[in-house]
Amino acid sequence: MIELQDVHKRLGGRQILDGLTLSVPQGMTFVLMGPSGTGKSVTLKHIIGILRPDSGSVQVDGQEVPRMDRAQLMALRKRMGYLFQNGALINWLSVAANVALPLQEHSKLGKGEVDDRVHEVLRLVGMDHAAKQMPPDISGGMKLRAGLARALVTNPEYVLYDEPNAGLDPIISQQIHELIVEVRDRLGVTSLIVTHSRACAVHCGDRIGVLEHGRIAVQGTVAEMTHSDHPLARAFLGGGAD
Ligand SMILES: Nc1ncnc2c1ncn2[C@@H]1O[C@H](COP(=O)(O)OP(=O)(O)OP(=O)(O)O)[C@@H](O)[C@H]1O
Ligand SMILES: [Mg+2]
Repeated sequence: MIELQDVHKRLGGRQILDGLTLSVPQGMTFVLMGPSGTGKSVTLKHIIGILRPDSGSVQVDGQEVPRMDRAQLMALRKRMGYLFQNGALINWLSVAANVALPLQEHSKLGKGEVDDRVHEVLRLVGMDHAAKQMPPDISGGMKLRAGLARALVTNPEYVLYDEPNAGLDPIISQQIHELIVEVRDRLGVTSLIVTHSRACAVHCGDRIGVLEHGRIAVQGTVAEMTHSDHPLARAFLGGGAD
């Protein structure tokens, strides 16, 4: 369970999160939408402990993330995959080496086992053929898929996806949505997805919330949100949204 209660955070002289309350029950997928610059990525960074709130509570499995020491944070990150916006690969490491990183940090697997797992997860995202390529030489969509492989390589219990289909063509997007649903259903993963895509929200979400002015302005099940008259729900999920 991921639970944020009344979280406040100022950054760069602006109040970014202003009483944000949000909970993701075990095994569920919560989709977070909202205008650019409203603090969606900032929210994810609080959950994995890269940012700390000025006030309020951020809990994973009932444990306060901001109070964790380094060892506890490492233990949390072992259980939590994070797909950074745009993949955030390390440019001087091959795709396979990027994907192997979390295993080297968090597991005691031998080289052969690491290689096997890396190729398995690269196959899952349709990137096995690009294992030896370097990030500057691959397309944006390929970077994102490699980032997704890196987020999933440790078989995490939690996954945070920051725009998992930004810049992907509709066919690959659809494959990524199916993969996200499969990961939830097969492994019981609890996840939070940040996206601007209606298709992603509707296909992958159990609940959808829209962030505005530092808090959730409207939230509900997929059916509630796609039928809602709230202007933000209509803007992000109505007929005209893509
Ligand atoms: N470390 C930081 N220092 C100062 N300001 C920051 C920092 N991180 C984020 N911000 C600011 O906080 C605001 C929210 O950023 P965030 O990246 O969460 O937006 P977002 O909702 O993810 O937008 P997008 O949809 O464009 O990705 C932005 O105005 C950003 O400039
Ligand atoms: Mg963002």
